[in-house]
Formats: sequence, structure tokens, C-alpha cells
Amino acid sequence: MNHFAYHDRDLCCESVPLRALADAVGTPAYVYSRAALLDAFTAYDRAFGDVPHLICYAVKANANLGVLGTLARAGAGADIVSGGELYRALRAGIPPRKIIFSGVGKTRDEMRDALKTEVLMFNVESAGELRALDEVAREMGVRAPVALRVNPDVDPETHPYISTGLRTAKFGVPIADALDVYAEAARLGGIEVVGVQMHIGSQLVKVTPVADGLVRLASLVGRLRERRVRVGMVDVGGGLGIRYRDEAPPTQTEYARTLLPVLRELGVTVLVEPGRSIVGNAGLLLTRVLYRKETVDKKFVIVDAAMNDLIRPALYNAYHAIEPVDRARLAGPRETVDIVGPICESGDFLAKDREMARVEEGDLLAVMSAGAYAFAMASNYNTRPRAAEVLVEGNRYTIVRRRETYEDLVAGETAL
Ligand code: LLP
Repeated sequence: MNHFAYHDRDLCCESVPLRALADAVGTPAYVYSRAALLDAFTAYDRAFGDVPHLICYAVKANANLGVLGTLARAGAGADIVSGGELYRALRAGIPPRKIIFSGVGKTRDEMRDALKTEVLMFNVESAGELRALDEVAREMGVRAPVALRVNPDVDPETHPYISTGLRTAKFGVPIADALDVYAEAARLGGIEVVGVQMHIGSQLVKVTPVADGLVRLASLVGRLRERRVRVGMVDVGGGLGIRYRDEAPPTQTEYARTLLPVLRELGVTVLVEPGRSIVGNAGLLLTRVLYRKETVDKKFVIVDAAMNDLIRPALYNAYHAIEPVDRARLAGPRETVDIVGPICESGDFLAKDREMARVEEGDLLAVMSAGAYAFAMASNYNTRPRAAEVLVEGNRYTIVRRRETYEDLVAGETAL
């Protein structure tokens, strides 16, 4: 079900009109639908239903405590990549035994914290990291549960910045070296091998590359078992794409249906690390038109949100649909515009050469698909306070992060 739709005059999030929300909390603001979050999580959970599995939400996509807490109560685990994300996951009530620790550059302090917490698994990305983890674990008198992140060398066919599964990427242990690194792991007193992991990229619109990677992983698991290395968990990573414009990514059900035969055959507990496909289309960025500006060459719509609130268009040339909150605009004239923010960079745009309904100064716009990697990648560039985050449930809403104040922005600094 679409939880962002027009009712009467206004675009709404669930039953809350965005116009009323903007009046109450101001703009820009991120607006999340609790129902959409839970729908996406439940779709994953059901899709893998009959095999032992754990859906570990990738915290990096949207780390707000309100979002994490909602998912925690639905039974989600967490995929974390830093000590900060560990802290958030625990604060939100995600049980340590449902937390997996990924990332290519874990520090010893972070390892220590995660070992103390007794997380489910470390996804280790290099022999150097494995040795460091072994040392830290032995110092603490414990054994670290480990999966190697294996780089299966498949082309995920996505944007190069978010493609991770090719041999040339910085991520994971090349599959050709994996047996040797596992052999070393098996000899280390501070390490207990428990699984294998891969993650080949993000915004994947085809499941075939994941399936190809999994076949390679499965053959590795077979060879490890011949060598008596126990592999009880296979983590297929995250990456399932969403529809921003006209993409047609597989559904959670289709995704699981493709992977499950191989996973079932292995008789393992399945871990999945989805981020975007849980939160991406559960959120939007609400912004107000400040000015219109027309030159002989261009029409600009200048809004109060900017690249510091949503960097994806500037960084990846990403497309986000932009809808007027006032339904009446849809019946009016159309035009081609650039939607730009107040930041002093030409890269500060939310849309370029966008054909859309003509909007006027003071209008509200909804920048869609802004639940994932939006606030999470926000900055204070141009000393702009980060926007409020709001979680809607039915006809009620909660401010799950208040708008930053100027005081927040200078906290921790020293004037000389
Ligand atoms: N697991 C690992 C090890 C990852 O590196 C990532 C994402 C995920 C899971 C979750 O992937 P997802 O299901 O969200 O695709 N900022 C970029 C996306 C970066 C993804 C980084 N890794 C964007 O805005 O498109």
C-alpha cells in the first residue's frame, strides 16, 4: 500500500496532511511513515519465512532512534559499521545477539566494545583485521564469532560509487584467497568461524548478480566443510533496490525465492542486511519554495532544502521524484525547471531539467524516496541546522529528532 497519497486537497503521509505538518514543525523536514517501514520489514521477514533467518537492518541507511526502535519492536536485528551505530542500535533496544558488525576499517576500540556487548557476528574484511580481532579477543579472554566478507567478483550493475562486489573494490576478501584466510582463522585462538558473508552493492535492480555471487559462496562453504570448518550462517548482504522513478526491482518475495533454493540446500541460518529497501520509500523530504527565478536560459525553483539535506542528486546524479503538496497544482500548467537549494555551490540541486507542475513561491514540495541515505548523509554545510525528522503513525506524528538550533551547531567549539 502507498502510504504517501493525496487525500482531498493535500498530499498526506498516512492520514497526516503534509501542509498541516509543515505548519507545525516547519521546513525542511523529513517525514517517515511507520506503516511503510513495517510493511517493508514484514515483507522481508515473510519472504524468508520458512528458513531460519534474521533480517539485520542496515543502520547506515537511516539511524534515527525512532526508526530503529520501530524496527526493533518488529523483531529486526541490525547491521552496523561503527561504534556509533552500535551505540544507537543498543539504545534503540536491538538485542546484541541480533547485531552484526560489518565494515572495512573497524578500530580496536570498536572491536572491544562489540565483543563486550557480545554481538552475533563480525564480518571481517581482511587478514589484517582478522589478526587484530584475534588479538583483541584473546586479551579479553573471549573468542570473536566471525564471518569473512568474501568478494565474489560479480558485477552488480549499479552506480560505480555504490558497487562493491567487483575484484577491484576495496571491500571483502577476494574469493580466490578466502580458503587461505579461513585456514588462518581456524588456527587463531581468539577467533571462532561461524559464517560467510557477501555484499555486492546497493540499489540493485536485478537479483541475478546476487544469485551468481551466492552460488560462488555456496561452493566455498562446501570446500570449507570438507576442511571441517563449521559454517552455520550465510549472510547475503543488503542492496535490494527501490523504485525512485521507473525502476522495477524485484520484490522481497522474488528476491528470497531466487536465493532460497541454494540457501536451503546449505542448511544454514540466513542473514540479510537491507537498508534502502526498508526505509527508502518510507520517507520524504518536505520543503518550501522560497523563490522562483527565470532567466532567458533557465527556470529555477529555489527551495529551503539543499544538498546538505539530500546529497544524492549532487553525489550520484540520483533522481528523486518531486511532488507538489497542493493537489490543485497538478491540474495547472507544466514547465521544466531546476529545483535548487540555498547553498553556494552549483552542485546544490535536488532536480535538474525536471518537467513538472508549475509551483509558486510559498508552495510545499515533497521530495520522495528520502527515507534512506538522506538525513543519514546530511551535513551542516553553510552552517545549516539539520532538519527535523518526524515519524507518522496514522493520524498522529512524533518529532523523532528536533530541528537543530544554532546553539547545537557551535556546541563543542571554542572561540578564541
Ligand atoms: N551491508 C553492507 C555491508 C553495506 O555496505 C550496505 C550499504 C548495506 C548492507 C545496505 O545496503 P542497502 O540495502 O541500503 O542497499 N549512500 C548510497 C548507498 C551506500 C550504500 C553503502 N552500503 C546511496 O545513497 O545510494
